[in-house]
Amino acid sequence: MGLINRGVLLAAMALLFATAMLPEAAAVRYIVGGNKGWTQGVNYTIWAQDKKFYHDDWLFFVYDRNQMNVLEVNKTDYESCNTDHPLHNWTTGAGRDVVPLNVTKTFYFVSGKGYCYGGMKVAIHVEKGAPPPAVSAVKSNSPLSLPSALRSSVFIPAVFAAAAAWDSLLMLL
Ligand SMILES: *[C@@H]1O[C@H](CO)[C@@H](O)[C@H](O)[C@H]1NC(C)=O
Ligand SMILES: *[C@@H]1O[C@H](CO)[C@@H](O)[C@H](O)[C@H]1NC(C)=O
Ligand SMILES: *[C@@H]1O[C@H](CO)[C@@H](O)[C@H](O)[C@H]1NC(C)=O
Ligand SMILES: *[C@@H]1O[C@H](CO)[C@@H](O)[C@H](O)[C@H]1NC(C)=O
Repeated sequence: MGLINRGVLLAAMALLFATAMLPEAAAVRYIVGGNKGWTQGVNYTIWAQDKKFYHDDWLFFVYDRNQMNVLEVNKTDYESCNTDHPLHNWTTGAGRDVVPLNVTKTFYFVSGKGYCYGGMKVAIHVEKGAPPPAVSAVKSNSPLSLPSALRSSVFIPAVFAAAAAWDSLLMLL
């Protein structure tokens, strides 16, 4: 009896822990430009090229609010740095803008105020669905974002924890 209770308790704790981890593990928040942020002198094409962006990931633009901004434009305007008719103005005024990648498409972001011409532009190709379970290596991401490899590795212990909790409950009956 004491043993079973202890098992139930441990399993329940594991389940709680795993459940708490899941929302965090489901989406990755990328700081655009990593520790350099959204600024001049960063090639964002290079920053983005080794990353996989999935539906429901997030972008976090961190920048000098007195200088830059964050505008979503279409492909034509991205290429020409035209900011006259943005699709979406993500600028909130704090220099800390969060963009949910909630559509499976290529997002095009530029900074207005002339900075796009200097290279402050990034195209983010968003893929649908979860990442493949087999991820060869943990890629270096910005410090605040969760490496994509963790997404799949966190989920599997959660499933086992749930199964263990269920088994323990059945033993009580
Ligand atoms: C982007 O918007 C501009 C102006 O609204 C338009 O002329 C252009 O055709 C659009 N490009 C695409 C790829 O939709
Ligand atoms: C974007 O929105 C911010 C905050 O509302 C505003 O100050 C700024 O003028 C807007 N920029 C453009 C290009 O629409
Ligand atoms: C994506 O998020 C933006 C900002 O929260 C929202 O305006 C838009 O409706 C969302 N789109 C979808 C397809 O959920
Ligand atoms: C960024 O680097 C890529 C690949 O080296 C290059 O093609 C592109 O022109 C660069 N972009 C800028 C804005 O310098």
